[in-house]
Formats: sequence, structure tokens, C-alpha cells
Amino acid sequence: MHILVTAGPTREFIDPVRFLSNRSTGKMGYAIAEAAIRAGHSVTLISGPSSLQPPKNLHAFCPVVSALEMLEAVENYLPSADALVMAAAVADFRPARRFDRKCHKNELGSTLELVPNPDILATIRPLKENRFFVGFAAETTDVQNSAAGKLHRKGLDLIVANDVTQPGAGFETDTNIVTLLAPNADAETLPLLSKAETAQRIIARMEAEMQKRRQNR
Ligand code: CTP
Repeated sequence: MHILVTAGPTREFIDPVRFLSNRSTGKMGYAIAEAAIRAGHSVTLISGPSSLQPPKNLHAFCPVVSALEMLEAVENYLPSADALVMAAAVADFRPARRFDRKCHKNELGSTLELVPNPDILATIRPLKENRFFVGFAAETTDVQNSAAGKLHRKGLDLIVANDVTQPGAGFETDTNIVTLLAPNADAETLPLLSKAETAQRIIARMEAEMQKRRQNR
């Protein structure tokens, strides 16, 4: 199977030295890419800025910076992919204007005008066909309900939800505590595991769901 994985944050530049971003480090997405390779899949990793070394034996590595670049990369690779794992923490907004030189503070003013970035999953949904789409939901409140809403709204086959306020879960850690939600299935909450082990379980669940789907056809 060819699996397309997105990872890391995006950066939305205001000028050459300032940007809007988030706390994602890419650890979970890189672990998924690694686990998928170990499980024998061909993997393309599209990554926002991250200090991590890409896993060995990737089919392709595509570094990007902004949400718009990530969308373009996903659109390029999707036709050859059987599955997409959107582990990236895509910035929802970007500055309305990007200066090509450093701004002085009096030019920036005290308010920053933002415009929404496209929702990558929503944009590519018409191209989904039989592909298996996995989303992530990093939440701080009402975790399972919010994630179930996203699973349905974004037309996903699986969503990986986590409460980023729990110790050992979420950003900048080497461990995670996630709940896997799929349509018409009970929620599966995994214990505190390393991100590598969590990634293996996510790949195994994807394989099982895809197998189920093939049998039902
Ligand atoms: N996502 C995306 N494009 C965006 C934002 C998010 O494809 N512009 C993807 C993420 O990679 C993730 C899923 O959508 O797999 C859920 O991301 P999240 O930020 O939780 O969802 P939002 O739709 O932005 O919801 P909200 O900000 O309302 O919680």
C-alpha cells in the first residue's frame, strides 16, 4: 500500500522573520511514517518544519512550510496513494498580507489581519474515491464528542483523538494517549504508550479497517 502521511506544524509568515505556528513537533506523524515503513508499506511523508530526521526508506520526502504548500503537496501525491494520514497540525489562519522585508513594529500595528487557510481534508474530499482517510483531533475539552463530530464532518474512515492536557499526551512528548474512532465501531482507547507504539497500533487498525472494507465489498 502507498500511504501518504502529513506531519508537523505549518508556518504562516508575516514577514521574513515572524510567523504564526503551533506546538507540533512532527513526532507523531514521523512515528506513523516509520511504523508504516516497518509494516512493509510504501510511504510518502509531507512535513512542515521539524527538527526530526525523516525515517529511512521513505518512498518520498516532501518538506513544506505553509498550509497552502501542504495542500499543494497533498494534491500532487494523492492520486498515487491508497491511504492518507493527516497528522499535521495545519494552521487554520494566515496573515492577510505577507511583507517581503522585516516590518517595524509601528508598521504592523496592534492588530493582525488574518484570512482562513483552506481545510486540506475538506478540499481533497472530492478526490477520495476508495482511499482510506485518517484524521487527528488534538483537543482540550469534550475530546470524544469533538473528535466524533470531525470524523463525520470531514468524511473520515478513522480519527485519532487525544486530550493534549493529559500528562504524557500531545505535543512535545515521546508518549501519547489516544482514542481511535471509526464509523459504526466502538471507541478504542489505547493506554499511555510511546509514540512509536501508538503509531504501530494506528497502522494495525488502519489495516484491519481496510481489510474489513474489502470483505464487505
Ligand atoms: N486539517 C486540515 N486542514 C486544516 C486544518 C486541519 O486538513 N486547515 C486536518 C488536520 O490535519 C487533522 C484534522 O483536520 O487531521 C482535524 O484538525 P483540527 O485542527 O482538529 O480540526 P479543525 O477542522 O481545524 O477544527 P477546530 O479548529 O474547529 O477544532
